[in-house]
Amino acid sequence: MDIPLPLVFSSVERSPFVVGPPITDPRQFFGREYILKRIFDVWKCVPFQHIAVVGAKRSGKTSLLHYVRRIIDTPQDQLRPEQKNNWLLPGYQWVFVDFQDPRMGYQENLLRYILLALDMPIPEPCDLVGFMEITDMYLEIPTIILLDEITAGLASPELDEQFWWGLRSLGSNHAGGKIGFLITAHESPEDFSYNDGTPSPFFNIFGHILNLGPLTEAEARMLIGNSPIPFAEEDVEWILAQSSYWPALIQMLSHSCLTSLEENQKGLEWRTEALSRMKPYRYLLDE
Ligand SMILES: Nc1ncnc2c1ncn2[C@@H]1O[C@H](COP(=O)(O)OP(=O)(O)O)[C@@H](O)[C@H]1O
Ligand SMILES: [Mg+2]
Repeated sequence: MDIPLPLVFSSVERSPFVVGPPITDPRQFFGREYILKRIFDVWKCVPFQHIAVVGAKRSGKTSLLHYVRRIIDTPQDQLRPEQKNNWLLPGYQWVFVDFQDPRMGYQENLLRYILLALDMPIPEPCDLVGFMEITDMYLEIPTIILLDEITAGLASPELDEQFWWGLRSLGSNHAGGKIGFLITAHESPEDFSYNDGTPSPFFNIFGHILNLGPLTEAEARMLIGNSPIPFAEEDVEWILAQSSYWPALIQMLSHSCLTSLEENQKGLEWRTEALSRMKPYRYLLDE
């Protein structure tokens, strides 16, 4: 009897449309050329400056962060032909922090996680002072720290004012300006404050504030064109019109269209169903 080999994750087929989770594989990421250029241009020169990406829920912030941290080191043969990976020279190191992960709300866990990701020694105790000494001594490589959903971090009682002052110092010339931050949030950093309403010191180092809007029409068409079965032109136009080019909505509508084709459904019931699935995300259309 043949024993089946364990399935290697990388050999599992990629879905043409991803409905729900953020995009982590660069090949499944579409568009955003303009904002990518703005982001990578900031980190071409030292001292690194800091960027805030502001966008509504499901506008594509987490997907963008994953792309930013992976694209430079992804070989061209693992990308679609039109995707470029030479935005920056290779050799930067990237740390992705998801503040929606409850473990990241604890200072020691968070600092340990960052040092592990940077392959640095872990001080004992792993507190802010130890962390800063270690980065001061060992940080040689240009380093970008991506902080996703920063407001969840701000709401954590353990990440207190002193902690944010520490991060601020890390981002303002500590370690020779070799650390850049990119944060995401639903609102502009000037509006950030602690639970008690006092402004947080970390956020006025963010000089570059970029709003995350929908894709361009050409980018939206490319995402729809990822379907393994081509859509009828009128379906493409319908998806473009209903989604207003928001990638999350394009993914949902295209998935429904593809399913209807695969199942050989007649008629336009899939549209009615797709629109009702889209209802909770209609706020994007007002952005
Ligand atoms: N550039 C993109 N290309 C393709 N799909 C995207 C892109 N950006 C976002 N999406 C889709 O939109 C959905 C929401 O994206 P996500 O990154 O989770 O948003 P946010 O973090 O702002 O809530 C994801 O399911 C993903 O499939
Ligand atoms: Mg997100």
